[in-house]
Amino acid sequence: MVRSFRSRLQIQKTKGRRGSPFFMMGVSLPAAEALRLDAMSEFTESAAGKISEGQRLTLQDVRSELGDCQRCPLGRTRKNLVFGEGNPHADIVFVGEAPGADEDFQGRPFVGRAGQLLTKIVEAMNLGRKDVYICNILKCRPPGNRNPQAGEIEACEPFLIKQLEAIGPKVICALGTFAAKTLLKVDVPITVLRGRFHSYRGIKLMPTYHPAYLLRNPSAKRLVWEDVQMIMRELE
Ligand code: URA
Repeated sequence: MVRSFRSRLQIQKTKGRRGSPFFMMGVSLPAAEALRLDAMSEFTESAAGKISEGQRLTLQDVRSELGDCQRCPLGRTRKNLVFGEGNPHADIVFVGEAPGADEDFQGRPFVGRAGQLLTKIVEAMNLGRKDVYICNILKCRPPGNRNPQAGEIEACEPFLIKQLEAIGPKVICALGTFAAKTLLKVDVPITVLRGRFHSYRGIKLMPTYHPAYLLRNPSAKRLVWEDVQMIMRELE
């Protein structure tokens, strides 16, 4: 398995720049940003506790505990609860913000246009959706796709933590400002957070731009590709 991943990585390296769907001619991180990022790492380490060593639930246990969740008002407006999907023992978990209309309709995460782009990102890592796990901070769609509210996060986040405990990934990829800030408990823009690993309860966490942002700003795909390559090296 390790050998096959290495060879995939090698192919990726050689395909690398020209083969990557994300590649645009290189612009390196400005020095000032790199310095800011350095200063961040200790900050985020201490902001996150360790995942408890208690009894490990399975994803099915977590889903059962969630039930027909009415812990916040989104339970009344959702069509479907979007729990998350993928490999229950994935090495990498992608965490987005909240289901949109398509996800609410299908009960599956990242199935709309942003989701199709996420699928391409996963495939560019030489993985499939079935190899990774995909979920969100919130499991129910906020009406009109408004930003999640504090009470909704408070009600929902414990279940995300239990999902992550059950999966035990090597790396978490936080998609977008909202997921990154919520998980890391910091109020720092994604432009500053992305591009390096942070620690989330003892798990490496890479913040990167949300695929919906990439749809509006395709030039940022190059930076996401840089982040994704760091993740691939970490998974090697
Ligand atoms: N955006 C998200 O953050 N999550 C989804 O599941 C879909 C779009």
